[in-house]
Amino acid sequence: MSTVSSVTSSTSHRKKVTTLTFRQKKERGEPISMLTAYDYPTALAMDRAGIDAILVGDSLAMVVLGYENTLPVTMDEMLHHARAVARGAKASLLIGDMPFMSYQISAEEALRNAGRFLQQGGMDAVKLEGGRERADTIRAITAAGIPVMGHLGLTPQSVHQLGGFRPQGRTASAARRLYEDARILVEAGCFSIVLESVPARLAETISKEISIPTIGIGAGAGCDGQVLVTHDLLGLFERFTPKFVKKYADLHPILMRAFTDFIDEVETKRFPTPEHVVEMTDEEWESFQKEVGK
Ligand code: KIV
Repeated sequence: MSTVSSVTSSTSHRKKVTTLTFRQKKERGEPISMLTAYDYPTALAMDRAGIDAILVGDSLAMVVLGYENTLPVTMDEMLHHARAVARGAKASLLIGDMPFMSYQISAEEALRNAGRFLQQGGMDAVKLEGGRERADTIRAITAAGIPVMGHLGLTPQSVHQLGGFRPQGRTASAARRLYEDARILVEAGCFSIVLESVPARLAETISKEISIPTIGIGAGAGCDGQVLVTHDLLGLFERFTPKFVKKYADLHPILMRAFTDFIDEVETKRFPTPEHVVEMTDEEWESFQKEVGK
């Protein structure tokens, strides 16, 4: 029987997951699990549950900070959340998502910011979006010993260029470009590639042909691993739910219930009750009363 406590104790001392583990899992045909996290308690729970990798995604901007898209989040904000995740997760591979404009200006600036994720954020690797146009940047970062995860297909930082959050690679020419980009990212030194919202048969073909693991989100079961945005999986992000999301819990109504119960009990004076208060001894109370002349 799998209980929460048996999950906790069986996985709390597991071996650190590395980029080598990723490669070995692909070779053995073992699926890789990845989720996003942005805070300490979530990272702790995921790590204990045995997740292979945790992405401190720039989806932070939307699901935690309430922005319309991922563009406004900054390096400093990403690092703040990366540190919280690193304090909670010890065994999972930790990946910091490079935010918009932290890697597009020059390879030098990209390398400096990637380094900050490792030095100041406690991450093991970074992720960045884009295909052939990012090859030189990826080469510069990996040459410094920093593992890079690529991200192809629906790349949310290009939402304005793509005309919205829409599936990619659905025409023969777009599919061919994506297929070529995947090969270019392998050659540039990526250790893994996220494939977001692309046709399942294209993702499967790419996954079979490249030597590094693909991690799919809305890309079907033919990828080497799967990732979801945790707030989608938990039913915590109310604005919209992409078709490819499976909700493993529906926490928003549960939160609402807890908050309305609290408000109600405060207003009707049913909280706090004696079990929730701190007391002092009668002796100390009497001497206090004497001291204040009561
Ligand atoms: O920022 C993010 O959460 C991501 C995932 C969708 C892969 O990039």
